[in-house]
Amino acid sequence: MSRLRCMLRGNDIRICIVLLIAIPVFMFGIYLHGQKITYFLRPVWESPPKPFQEIPHYYNENVTMERLCHLHGWKLRESPRRVFDAVLFNNEIDILALRWNELSPYVTQFVLLESNSTFTSLLKPLLFAGNRHQFKFVEPRLTYGMVGGRFKKGENPFVEEAYQRVALDQLLRIAGIEEDDLLTMSDVDEIPSGHTINLLRWCDDIPPVIHLQLRNYLYSFEYHVDNKSWRASVHRYKPGKTRYAHYRQSDIILSDSGWHCSFCFRYVSEFIFKMKAYSHTDRVRFPHYLNPKRIQDIICKGADLFDMLPEEYTFKEIIGKMGPTPHSYSAVHLPAYLLNTAEKYKYLLPGNCRRESG
Ligand SMILES: *[C@@H]1O[C@H](CO)[C@@H](O)[C@H](O)[C@H]1NC(C)=O
Ligand SMILES: *[C@@H]1O[C@H](CO)[C@@H](O)[C@H](O)[C@H]1NC(C)=O
Ligand SMILES: *[C@@H]1O[C@H](CO)[C@@H](O)[C@H](O)[C@H]1NC(C)=O
Repeated sequence: MSRLRCMLRGNDIRICIVLLIAIPVFMFGIYLHGQKITYFLRPVWESPPKPFQEIPHYYNENVTMERLCHLHGWKLRESPRRVFDAVLFNNEIDILALRWNELSPYVTQFVLLESNSTFTSLLKPLLFAGNRHQFKFVEPRLTYGMVGGRFKKGENPFVEEAYQRVALDQLLRIAGIEEDDLLTMSDVDEIPSGHTINLLRWCDDIPPVIHLQLRNYLYSFEYHVDNKSWRASVHRYKPGKTRYAHYRQSDIILSDSGWHCSFCFRYVSEFIFKMKAYSHTDRVRFPHYLNPKRIQDIICKGADLFDMLPEEYTFKEIIGKMGPTPHSYSAVHLPAYLLNTAEKYKYLLPGNCRRESG
């Protein structure tokens, strides 16, 4: 139709040619970058969630626990609460070692559940079971569980995830959790700092559910994205009421309580596995996203593996965070175990973005 009209009006022919080229190019642009456009317009279609009430967090290693509790408006207990650290394990072996070493002095029972299915119903090896010998130091305090995947094709990955979290609730009861014990709910890579858990186990009157604000890192501690990770939470366990979850469960958040290291893997193959096993599989929009060379380049740039825009709620924050995350050369507030075993975990420290093959 439009082509016909173009031919009829000879003098408009140039405009027609421009349109004939411009429209397909525009459509192709939408195909490539449609996700970016919707993300950029997010402030228009979505308003931010209710802000957390952020509790100031006081800590210095040379201040007594009584004083620290008092500064938070709490009282020192006569003995600390028991602490249960429960995680759903996927494939983060190194990060698990950091986590358990950081928390070891304060944890009563380590509870770990793994499945032979990813959330996206891919068969996965039982990596923890295969590496259990590396974690002898927690063995007397470990409750390990394995749950078989349901392998339902085409199902929303959040259903498998919810199923595995219910299994974790059962495992916690097997581990012997009781009323008012502390329970941390977080992914393996959301690591509360040891002193945070120590504070919460020693002080009375802490909120029944409190989120932990963690420093967000990407690929390693070289890329400090922001300080806004909030999903990790600590609960005073209530039998029959407390359910293991990874969404927002209270309005209270304790400032500066640890580290969240996303996609902090040793091998490029682990990045590829995680990208495929991720709950948001729609993010791997093109097969070349899984190309090892591309992944390595992106790690060294601090750019985004899925070529997406930052998920923020205001234009100011989206624009402020566009482009790669700047390098950070501070290795000051990091888990002690990481610095004590730096030779083994070099790739997690600033200046070592190249991954080993394997
Ligand atoms: C810790 O406190 C003690 C007693 O107040 C003081 O003697 C010591 O120098 C302090 N140490 C540090 C590292 O600040
Ligand atoms: C997953 O594990 C369950 C429980 O051990 C087992 O019955 C099932 O056969 C496994 N599935 C696959 C595909 O290996
Ligand atoms: C995170 O918080 C610390 C301490 O409050 C601050 O020094 C740092 O600049 C923040 N980093 C980012 C990336 O927001």
